[in-house]
Amino acid sequence: MHRRIYLDYNATTPLLPEVLEAMRPFLGDRFGNASSVHWEGQVAKQAVDEAREAVAALLGVEPREVVFTSGGTEADNLAVQGIARQYARRGRHILVSAIEHPAVLEAAKALRHEGFRVELIPVTADGVVDLDRFQEMLRPDTVLVSVMAANNETGVIQPVEAIGGLCREREIFFHVDAVQAIGKLSVEPRRWGCDLLSLSAHKIYGPKGVGALYVRQGVDLTPILYGGFQERGRRSGTENVPGIVGLGVACRYVAERGVAEAERLAKLRDHLEGELRQAFPDVWIHGQRVPRVPNTSMFSFPGADGEALMIRLDLEGFAVSTGSACSSGRLEPSHVLQAMGVPPEVVQGSLRVSLGRDTTWDDLAALLRALRQVRAV
Ligand SMILES: Cc1ncc(COP(=O)(O)O)c(C=O)c1O
Repeated sequence: MHRRIYLDYNATTPLLPEVLEAMRPFLGDRFGNASSVHWEGQVAKQAVDEAREAVAALLGVEPREVVFTSGGTEADNLAVQGIARQYARRGRHILVSAIEHPAVLEAAKALRHEGFRVELIPVTADGVVDLDRFQEMLRPDTVLVSVMAANNETGVIQPVEAIGGLCREREIFFHVDAVQAIGKLSVEPRRWGCDLLSLSAHKIYGPKGVGALYVRQGVDLTPILYGGFQERGRRSGTENVPGIVGLGVACRYVAERGVAEAERLAKLRDHLEGELRQAFPDVWIHGQRVPRVPNTSMFSFPGADGEALMIRLDLEGFAVSTGSACSSGRLEPSHVLQAMGVPPEVVQGSLRVSLGRDTTWDDLAALLRALRQVRAV
Protein backbone atom coordinates (compact mmCIF):
# COMPACT_ATOMS: atom_id res chain seq x y z
CA MET A 1 0.00 0.00 0.00
CA HIS A 2 1.27 3.48 -0.80
CA ARG A 3 1.93 5.96 1.98
CA ARG A 4 -1.11 6.96 3.99
CA ILE A 5 -1.63 10.44 5.37
CA TYR A 6 -3.90 10.39 8.40
CA LEU A 7 -5.89 13.60 8.87
CA ASP A 8 -8.74 12.39 11.05
CA TYR A 9 -7.44 12.94 14.59
CA ASN A 10 -10.88 13.99 15.84
CA ALA A 11 -12.12 10.49 15.04
CA THR A 12 -9.27 8.82 16.86
CA THR A 13 -5.52 9.08 17.38
CA PRO A 14 -2.67 6.57 17.27
CA LEU A 15 -1.27 5.35 20.60
CA LEU A 16 1.76 7.22 21.84
CA PRO A 17 4.72 4.82 22.10
CA GLU A 18 5.10 5.64 25.80
CA VAL A 19 1.41 4.87 26.36
CA LEU A 20 1.82 1.45 24.76
CA GLU A 21 4.95 0.77 26.84
CA ALA A 22 3.20 1.74 30.07
CA MET A 23 0.21 -0.48 29.25
CA ARG A 24 2.18 -3.53 28.18
CA PRO A 25 2.94 -5.02 31.65
CA PHE A 26 -0.74 -4.79 32.58
CA LEU A 27 -1.62 -6.90 29.55
CA GLY A 28 1.07 -9.34 30.67
CA ASP A 29 2.24 -10.43 34.10
CA ARG A 30 0.68 -7.55 36.05
CA PHE A 31 -2.79 -8.89 35.46
CA GLY A 32 -4.23 -8.45 38.95
CA ASN A 33 -7.74 -7.25 39.74
CA ALA A 34 -7.51 -3.78 41.28
CA SER A 35 -10.15 -4.75 43.83
CA SER A 36 -8.18 -7.77 45.17
CA VAL A 37 -6.50 -7.43 48.54
CA HIS A 38 -3.45 -9.56 47.69
CA TRP A 39 -0.20 -8.34 46.19
CA GLU A 40 -1.25 -8.80 42.55
CA GLY A 41 -4.35 -6.76 43.24
CA GLN A 42 -2.43 -4.04 45.01
CA VAL A 43 -0.02 -3.65 42.06
CA ALA A 44 -3.03 -3.05 39.82
CA LYS A 45 -4.69 -0.73 42.33
CA GLN A 46 -1.59 1.39 42.64
CA ALA A 47 -1.43 1.78 38.86
CA VAL A 48 -5.09 2.82 38.79
CA ASP A 49 -4.48 5.31 41.61
CA GLU A 50 -1.54 6.85 39.75
CA ALA A 51 -3.62 7.21 36.62
CA ARG A 52 -6.40 8.83 38.63
CA GLU A 53 -3.89 11.35 39.97
CA ALA A 54 -2.71 12.12 36.44
CA VAL A 55 -6.26 12.75 35.20
CA ALA A 56 -7.03 14.88 38.27
CA ALA A 57 -3.80 16.88 37.86
CA LEU A 58 -4.58 17.64 34.21
CA LEU A 59 -8.04 18.91 35.16
CA GLY A 60 -6.97 20.64 38.37
CA VAL A 61 -9.37 18.58 40.50
CA GLU A 62 -9.13 16.00 43.30
CA PRO A 63 -8.43 12.34 42.41
CA ARG A 64 -11.58 11.24 44.25
CA GLU A 65 -13.60 13.35 41.82
CA VAL A 66 -12.51 11.17 38.87
CA VAL A 67 -14.62 8.16 37.82
CA PHE A 68 -13.17 5.84 35.17
CA THR A 69 -15.56 4.70 32.45
CA SER A 70 -15.44 2.73 29.20
CA GLY A 71 -15.03 5.95 27.20
CA GLY A 72 -16.56 9.28 26.36
CA THR A 73 -19.90 7.74 25.49
CA GLU A 74 -20.32 6.11 28.88
CA ALA A 75 -19.10 9.23 30.69
CA ASP A 76 -21.72 11.30 28.85
CA ASN A 77 -24.49 8.79 29.53
CA LEU A 78 -23.55 8.52 33.20
CA ALA A 79 -23.49 12.29 33.61
CA VAL A 80 -26.77 13.03 31.85
CA GLN A 81 -28.83 10.11 33.05
CA GLY A 82 -27.13 9.81 36.44
CA ILE A 83 -27.93 13.43 37.37
CA ALA A 84 -31.42 13.44 35.87
CA ARG A 85 -32.46 10.36 37.83
CA GLN A 86 -30.72 11.37 41.05
CA TYR A 87 -32.22 14.85 41.15
CA ALA A 88 -35.54 14.35 39.35
CA ARG A 89 -37.38 15.74 42.37
CA ARG A 90 -35.72 19.12 41.72
CA GLY A 91 -37.16 19.27 38.22
CA ARG A 92 -37.56 17.38 34.99
CA HIS A 93 -36.42 19.93 32.45
CA ILE A 94 -33.11 19.34 30.65
CA LEU A 95 -31.30 21.60 28.18
CA VAL A 96 -28.62 20.27 25.83
CA SER A 97 -27.12 22.07 22.87
CA ALA A 98 -28.29 21.13 19.40
CA ILE A 99 -24.70 20.33 18.36
CA GLU A 100 -23.86 17.82 21.11
CA HIS A 101 -22.34 14.48 20.24
CA PRO A 102 -24.98 11.73 19.98
CA ALA A 103 -23.66 10.33 23.29
CA VAL A 104 -25.24 13.35 25.00
CA LEU A 105 -28.13 13.98 22.61
CA GLU A 106 -29.41 10.41 22.62
CA ALA A 107 -28.79 9.88 26.35
CA ALA A 108 -30.89 12.98 27.03
CA LYS A 109 -33.63 12.14 24.53
CA ALA A 110 -33.97 8.66 26.05
CA LEU A 111 -34.98 10.37 29.30
CA ARG A 112 -38.16 11.59 27.61
CA HIS A 113 -39.53 8.09 28.25
CA GLU A 114 -39.03 8.75 31.97
CA GLY A 115 -41.07 11.94 31.95
CA PHE A 116 -38.28 14.46 31.37
CA ARG A 117 -38.71 17.38 29.01
CA VAL A 118 -35.57 17.69 26.88
CA GLU A 119 -34.99 20.81 24.77
CA LEU A 120 -32.18 21.67 22.37
CA ILE A 121 -30.37 24.99 22.74
CA PRO A 122 -29.87 26.52 19.27
CA VAL A 123 -26.53 27.72 17.91
CA THR A 124 -25.64 30.77 15.82
CA ALA A 125 -24.63 30.57 12.15
CA ASP A 126 -21.03 30.36 13.40
CA GLY A 127 -21.81 27.26 15.44
CA VAL A 128 -21.71 28.83 18.91
CA VAL A 129 -24.39 28.12 21.49
CA ASP A 130 -26.77 31.10 21.50
CA LEU A 131 -26.45 32.52 25.02
CA ASP A 132 -29.51 34.79 24.75
CA ARG A 133 -31.72 31.95 23.64
CA PHE A 134 -30.20 29.76 26.35
CA GLN A 135 -31.16 32.23 29.06
CA GLU A 136 -34.71 32.45 27.71
CA MET A 137 -35.02 28.66 27.78
CA LEU A 138 -34.02 28.27 31.44
CA ARG A 139 -36.96 27.39 33.70
CA PRO A 140 -37.45 27.02 37.44
CA ASP A 141 -37.60 23.24 36.95
CA THR A 142 -34.41 23.00 34.82
CA VAL A 143 -32.30 20.36 36.54
CA LEU A 144 -29.44 19.84 34.07
CA VAL A 145 -27.64 21.64 31.26
CA SER A 146 -25.12 19.88 29.00
CA VAL A 147 -22.94 21.80 26.56
CA MET A 148 -19.70 20.58 25.00
CA ALA A 149 -16.43 22.53 25.33
CA ALA A 150 -15.50 22.16 21.66
CA ASN A 151 -17.47 20.67 18.82
CA ASN A 152 -16.10 17.52 17.20
CA GLU A 153 -17.08 18.52 13.65
CA THR A 154 -16.33 22.25 13.41
CA GLY A 155 -13.93 22.59 16.35
CA VAL A 156 -15.89 25.65 17.51
CA ILE A 157 -15.24 26.47 21.18
CA GLN A 158 -18.38 26.96 23.27
CA PRO A 159 -19.00 29.60 25.98
CA VAL A 160 -18.91 27.06 28.79
CA GLU A 161 -17.69 29.51 31.43
CA ALA A 162 -20.62 31.87 30.81
CA ILE A 163 -23.05 28.94 30.82
CA GLY A 164 -21.48 27.61 34.01
CA GLY A 165 -22.00 30.99 35.71
CA LEU A 166 -25.67 31.10 34.74
CA CYS A 167 -26.21 27.52 35.94
CA ARG A 168 -24.50 28.18 39.22
CA GLU A 169 -26.69 31.21 40.02
CA ARG A 170 -29.73 28.98 39.61
CA GLU A 171 -28.26 25.82 41.20
CA ILE A 172 -28.66 23.87 37.96
CA PHE A 173 -26.26 20.97 37.33
CA PHE A 174 -23.90 21.61 34.43
CA HIS A 175 -22.16 18.90 32.40
CA VAL A 176 -19.42 19.60 29.85
CA ASP A 177 -18.39 17.07 27.22
CA ALA A 178 -14.69 17.93 26.91
CA VAL A 179 -13.79 14.92 24.74
CA GLN A 180 -12.66 17.13 21.84
CA ALA A 181 -11.23 19.90 24.01
CA ILE A 182 -8.69 17.93 26.02
CA GLY A 183 -5.22 18.38 24.56
CA LYS A 184 -6.42 21.23 22.35
CA LEU A 185 -7.28 23.89 24.91
CA SER A 186 -6.91 24.31 28.63
CA VAL A 187 -9.70 22.32 30.28
CA GLU A 188 -10.59 23.78 33.69
CA PRO A 189 -13.76 22.41 35.25
CA ARG A 190 -13.42 24.55 38.36
CA ARG A 191 -13.10 27.81 36.43
CA TRP A 192 -15.88 26.79 34.06
CA GLY A 193 -18.17 26.13 36.99
CA CYS A 194 -19.19 22.70 35.80
CA ASP A 195 -20.28 19.84 38.03
CA LEU A 196 -19.41 17.07 35.58
CA LEU A 197 -16.98 16.77 32.69
CA SER A 198 -16.36 13.90 30.25
CA LEU A 199 -13.16 12.88 28.54
CA SER A 200 -11.94 9.98 26.43
CA ALA A 201 -8.46 8.46 26.10
CA HIS A 202 -8.44 7.65 22.39
CA LYS A 203 -8.70 11.29 21.32
CA ILE A 204 -5.47 12.12 23.17
CA TYR A 205 -3.17 9.32 21.96
CA GLY A 206 -4.46 6.85 24.55
CA PRO A 207 -6.28 3.55 24.01
CA LYS A 208 -9.86 3.09 22.88
CA GLY A 209 -12.53 1.96 25.32
CA VAL A 210 -11.52 4.03 28.33
CA GLY A 211 -12.43 7.48 29.55
CA ALA A 212 -13.31 9.38 32.67
CA LEU A 213 -16.02 11.50 34.20
CA TYR A 214 -15.16 14.30 36.61
CA VAL A 215 -17.87 14.52 39.26
CA ARG A 216 -17.58 17.52 41.58
CA GLN A 217 -17.37 16.51 45.20
CA GLY A 218 -20.80 16.57 46.83
CA VAL A 219 -22.63 15.74 43.58
CA ASP A 220 -24.42 12.39 43.66
CA LEU A 221 -25.19 10.21 40.67
CA THR A 222 -27.59 7.35 40.16
CA PRO A 223 -25.39 4.69 38.52
CA ILE A 224 -26.20 3.27 35.12
CA LEU A 225 -24.23 0.09 35.84
CA TYR A 226 -24.82 -1.90 39.03
CA GLY A 227 -22.49 -4.53 40.44
CA GLY A 228 -19.41 -4.71 42.60
CA PHE A 229 -19.33 -1.03 43.75
CA GLN A 230 -16.08 -0.17 41.98
CA GLU A 231 -15.39 3.56 41.57
CA ARG A 232 -17.16 4.21 44.90
CA GLY A 233 -20.29 2.64 43.53
CA ARG A 234 -20.56 5.17 40.73
CA ARG A 235 -19.36 2.76 38.05
CA SER A 236 -19.39 -0.94 38.85
CA GLY A 237 -17.31 -3.39 36.85
CA THR A 238 -13.74 -4.64 37.15
CA GLU A 239 -11.44 -1.79 36.22
CA ASN A 240 -9.86 -1.81 32.75
CA VAL A 241 -6.39 -1.55 34.28
CA PRO A 242 -4.29 -1.42 31.06
CA GLY A 243 -6.67 1.11 29.56
CA ILE A 244 -6.71 3.26 32.68
CA VAL A 245 -2.90 3.19 32.83
CA GLY A 246 -2.84 4.30 29.18
CA LEU A 247 -5.25 7.14 29.90
CA GLY A 248 -3.04 8.32 32.76
CA VAL A 249 0.08 8.45 30.60
CA ALA A 250 -1.83 10.23 27.81
CA CYS A 251 -2.98 12.86 30.34
CA ARG A 252 0.61 13.40 31.47
CA TYR A 253 1.63 13.89 27.83
CA VAL A 254 -1.14 16.45 27.33
CA ALA A 255 -0.15 18.29 30.51
CA GLU A 256 3.46 18.54 29.34
CA ARG A 257 3.11 19.06 25.60
CA GLY A 258 -0.42 20.25 24.96
CA VAL A 259 0.03 23.98 24.55
CA ALA A 260 3.17 23.93 22.43
CA GLU A 261 1.56 21.39 20.13
CA ALA A 262 -1.60 23.50 19.89
CA GLU A 263 0.39 26.48 18.59
CA ARG A 264 2.05 24.39 15.91
CA LEU A 265 -1.26 22.92 14.79
CA ALA A 266 -2.94 26.33 14.65
CA LYS A 267 -0.29 27.51 12.17
CA LEU A 268 -0.76 24.41 10.04
CA ARG A 269 -4.55 24.69 10.08
CA ASP A 270 -4.53 28.40 9.23
CA HIS A 271 -2.15 27.75 6.36
CA LEU A 272 -4.41 25.00 5.01
CA GLU A 273 -7.45 27.26 5.15
CA GLY A 274 -5.63 30.15 3.49
CA GLU A 275 -4.63 27.88 0.62
CA LEU A 276 -8.14 26.45 0.37
CA ARG A 277 -9.64 29.93 0.01
CA GLN A 278 -7.19 30.74 -2.77
CA ALA A 279 -7.61 27.51 -4.67
CA PHE A 280 -11.39 27.26 -4.27
CA PRO A 281 -13.06 30.68 -4.12
CA ASP A 282 -16.48 29.13 -3.42
CA VAL A 283 -15.32 27.13 -0.37
CA TRP A 284 -17.20 27.60 2.94
CA ILE A 285 -15.06 27.26 6.04
CA HIS A 286 -17.36 26.56 8.94
CA GLY A 287 -16.85 28.50 12.16
CA GLN A 288 -13.97 30.52 10.71
CA ARG A 289 -15.07 33.77 12.39
CA VAL A 290 -15.10 32.38 15.94
CA PRO A 291 -12.54 30.70 18.21
CA ARG A 292 -11.93 27.07 17.34
CA VAL A 293 -9.64 24.34 18.63
CA PRO A 294 -6.41 24.58 16.62
CA ASN A 295 -6.44 21.23 14.85
CA THR A 296 -9.86 21.20 13.20
CA SER A 297 -11.04 22.48 9.84
CA MET A 298 -14.45 21.76 8.43
CA PHE A 299 -15.21 23.11 4.99
CA SER A 300 -17.70 22.62 2.19
CA PHE A 301 -17.65 22.74 -1.56
CA PRO A 302 -21.23 23.82 -2.33
CA GLY A 303 -22.99 21.36 -4.62
CA ALA A 304 -20.29 18.69 -4.23
CA ASP A 305 -20.80 15.24 -2.74
CA GLY A 306 -18.66 15.16 0.41
CA GLU A 307 -18.96 11.41 0.74
CA ALA A 308 -17.64 10.87 -2.80
CA LEU A 309 -14.80 13.35 -2.20
CA MET A 310 -13.84 11.57 0.99
CA ILE A 311 -13.72 8.22 -0.80
CA ARG A 312 -11.65 9.66 -3.68
CA LEU A 313 -9.22 11.12 -1.17
CA ASP A 314 -9.06 7.77 0.61
CA LEU A 315 -8.05 6.10 -2.64
CA GLU A 316 -5.33 8.75 -3.00
CA GLY A 317 -4.01 7.83 0.46
CA PHE A 318 -5.69 10.43 2.70
CA ALA A 319 -7.89 9.73 5.70
CA VAL A 320 -10.32 12.61 6.19
CA SER A 321 -13.94 12.59 7.22
CA THR A 322 -17.33 13.99 6.30
CA GLY A 323 -19.55 15.28 9.06
CA SER A 324 -19.24 13.45 12.34
CA ALA A 325 -16.73 10.63 12.25
CA CYS A 326 -18.29 9.16 15.34
CA SER A 327 -21.40 8.46 13.33
CA SER A 328 -19.71 7.49 10.10
CA GLY A 329 -21.27 4.52 8.46
CA ARG A 330 -24.50 6.48 8.67
CA LEU A 331 -25.09 8.69 5.68
CA GLU A 332 -27.23 11.26 7.46
CA PRO A 333 -26.19 14.86 6.89
CA SER A 334 -24.36 16.56 9.73
CA HIS A 335 -26.76 17.66 12.48
CA VAL A 336 -24.16 20.22 13.50
CA LEU A 337 -24.09 22.03 10.16
CA GLN A 338 -27.87 21.78 9.95
CA ALA A 339 -28.21 23.41 13.37
CA MET A 340 -26.00 26.25 12.07
CA GLY A 341 -28.50 26.83 9.27
CA VAL A 342 -26.07 25.78 6.53
CA PRO A 343 -28.04 25.11 3.30
CA PRO A 344 -28.45 21.40 2.40
CA GLU A 345 -26.32 21.58 -0.78
CA VAL A 346 -23.48 23.02 1.31
CA VAL A 347 -23.92 20.48 4.13
CA GLN A 348 -23.74 17.74 1.52
CA GLY A 349 -20.37 18.95 0.24
CA SER A 350 -18.56 19.03 3.59
CA LEU A 351 -15.23 17.54 4.59
CA ARG A 352 -13.51 17.56 7.96
CA VAL A 353 -9.75 17.60 8.23
CA SER A 354 -8.33 17.21 11.75
CA LEU A 355 -4.61 17.45 12.41
CA GLY A 356 -2.42 15.87 15.06
CA ARG A 357 1.08 15.37 16.33
CA ASP A 358 2.36 13.58 13.22
CA THR A 359 0.92 16.08 10.74
CA THR A 360 3.52 17.96 8.70
CA TRP A 361 3.53 20.86 6.22
CA ASP A 362 4.25 18.33 3.48
CA ASP A 363 1.11 16.38 4.41
CA LEU A 364 -1.02 19.47 3.92
CA ALA A 365 0.69 20.39 0.65
CA ALA A 366 -0.04 16.87 -0.59
CA LEU A 367 -3.66 17.12 0.55
CA LEU A 368 -4.11 20.42 -1.31
CA ARG A 369 -2.67 18.86 -4.47
CA ALA A 370 -5.03 15.92 -4.15
CA LEU A 371 -8.02 18.20 -3.50
CA ARG A 372 -7.26 20.21 -6.63
CA GLN A 373 -7.16 16.95 -8.55
CA VAL A 374 -10.36 15.46 -7.20
CA ARG A 375 -12.21 18.79 -7.53
CA ALA A 376 -11.04 19.18 -11.12
CA VAL A 377 -12.92 16.11 -12.32
C1 LIG B 1 -17.54 15.30 21.55
C2 LIG B 1 -17.52 13.82 21.71
N1 LIG B 1 -18.14 13.25 22.75
C3 LIG B 1 -18.14 11.92 22.95
C4 LIG B 1 -17.48 11.07 22.10
C5 LIG B 1 -17.52 9.59 22.37
O1 LIG B 1 -16.34 9.16 22.98
P1 LIG B 1 -15.92 7.60 22.89
O2 LIG B 1 -15.52 7.36 21.47
O3 LIG B 1 -14.77 7.47 23.85
O4 LIG B 1 -17.09 6.81 23.33
C6 LIG B 1 -16.83 11.62 20.97
C7 LIG B 1 -16.14 10.80 19.94
O5 LIG B 1 -16.23 9.67 19.75
C8 LIG B 1 -16.84 13.01 20.79
O6 LIG B 1 -16.22 13.59 19.75
